[in-house]
Amino acid sequence: MSRLTIFADSAPGTPILESPVALSQDDSAETILAAYRPYLDALMGETGAGSADVVKLTPDHPQAQVLREKFLQEHIHSEDEVRFFVEGAGNFVLHLNGTIYDARCEKGDLISVPAGTKHWFDAGLAPSFTALRVFSHTDGWVANFTGDDISNRFPAVV
Ligand SMILES: [Fe+2]
Repeated sequence: MSRLTIFADSAPGTPILESPVALSQDDSAETILAAYRPYLDALMGETGAGSADVVKLTPDHPQAQVLREKFLQEHIHSEDEVRFFVEGAGNFVLHLNGTIYDARCEKGDLISVPAGTKHWFDAGLAPSFTALRVFSHTDGWVANFTGDDISNRFPAVV
């Protein structure tokens, strides 16, 4: 990921601007959304997206395993699945024409899984990531599960 930091030549310890965004692990979803709003507005304008939110999963999250199991089931969406990784990492695994594409996504990565593409998401046994989710619909994350247990046979490559 590229980054731009701008300083006055008389103040080496005080950045005037840091790109893209400086955040801490403890920032709230609202803070993260606000920090990325200028970038989101540009991205959402390009994609015609209608809404965005933040998904944050840590190993001690009370729903970590439930959410992991849900995302691990092969599914499709009626819209592109657009994610930007603010922190941490996870794997989007795509199942296309008899081939598995395991895409490791890390901080600074933007991925768009095309609508109708069979896929699952695996962040491992101790999931740790924060991602912006961009939706063209207003009803958020809606999955149509295929019922195929193929993800059980392809543990993510980390
Ligand atoms: Fe998905």
